Amino acid sequence: MADETALVRFDDVGMRYDGGAEVLHGVSFSLAPGSYHFLTGPSGAGKSTLLRLLYLAQRPTAGQISLFGRDVRDLGRADRARMRQRMGVVFQDFRLLPHLSVFDNVALPLRILKAPEAEIRRDVGELLAWVGLGEHEAASPATLSGGQQQRLAIARAVVVRPRLLLADEPTGNLDAEMGLKLMHLFEELNKLGTTIVIATHDTTLLARFRHPRLVLTEGRLKTMPPAPPSRGPVVQRTAPVAPRAEETRGEGRS
Ligand SMILES: Nc1ncnc2c1ncn2[C@@H]1O[C@H](COP(=O)(O)OP(=O)(O)OP(=O)(O)O)[C@@H](O)[C@H]1O
Ligand SMILES: [Mg+2]
Repeated sequence: MADETALVRFDDVGMRYDGGAEVLHGVSFSLAPGSYHFLTGPSGAGKSTLLRLLYLAQRPTAGQISLFGRDVRDLGRADRARMRQRMGVVFQDFRLLPHLSVFDNVALPLRILKAPEAEIRRDVGELLAWVGLGEHEAASPATLSGGQQQRLAIARAVVVRPRLLLADEPTGNLDAEMGLKLMHLFEELNKLGTTIVIATHDTTLLARFRHPRLVLTEGRLKTMPPAPPSRGPVVQRTAPVAPRAEETRGEGRS
C-alpha cells in the first residue's frame, strides 16, 4: 500500500514452471515511473522468467504483481492486451515475424495503435536508418545476421516510445560500438520518461551506464546500487557516440 505510485510492484512473488522446481522465490521490488534498472545474475538465475512475468506472458505461482497501478490478477483479456501495448519488449530470442518484411516488423506496433501511415513511414524509416538497417527495409528478417536481427528487435520495441521497456540481453549479439550506440538510445528513451529494465551479463555496460541493479541469485532478488564506475582502459577503448559530458557527470560522484 505504501507505494501506490509504483509503475511495477512485485510482492513476495514465486514462480515454478509445470512440475519443476521453484525458479523465483519471495521476489519483492517496485519500480518508480521513469526509473532505469539493470537485471543481472548468472545464467539460469531467473532473469528471463522475471521479465516474462512483467510482460504478462506468464502468471506467478505465488504472490502478487501490480502493473501500472493494477493487480494483474484482476485483468481480463482486453485489459492485458492494452497493457502490453504500453510495453516494448526485446526478447532474448528476438521473436521477429518471419512473414513480414523488416519495415513491417517495426511498423506493426504503430499499425496496431492506428498511427497514420505517413507518420509510420517517417518514424520507421528514421529508426531503421539509425540502427543501420536502412538498406534492409524490404528484406525478410531471416536473411539478416544475428546482430542485425537484434537491432531490428530493438527498433520494434522502442518505436512506440513505450511507458515500460523490457529488454533481455539486448546487446548480446552486437559488437561493442553498436552495443554502446543502442545503450545510448535507451538512455534517450529513459530521459523522455520510459521506465526501463534491461537484463544483461555485460559488466562493461553495467560499469559504464550506472543504474541500480536488480540482482537475481538462485531465484532470490536483491536491489543493489549501480556498479562501481569503470575507469582506465575499459572506458577509453570504446568509441564516443554521445556527448562525453553526459557520461562523465554521473561517474565523478561516488
Ligand atoms: N519454459 C520453461 N519450462 C521449464 N523450466 C524453465 C522454463 N524456462 C526456464 N526454465 C527454468 O527456469 C530457470 C530460470 O531460467 P531463465 O531462463 O529465467 O534464466 P535466465 O537468468 O534468463 O538465464 P540466461 O542468463 O541463461 O538467459 C532455469 O532453471 C530454467 O531451466
Ligand atoms: Mg535469459
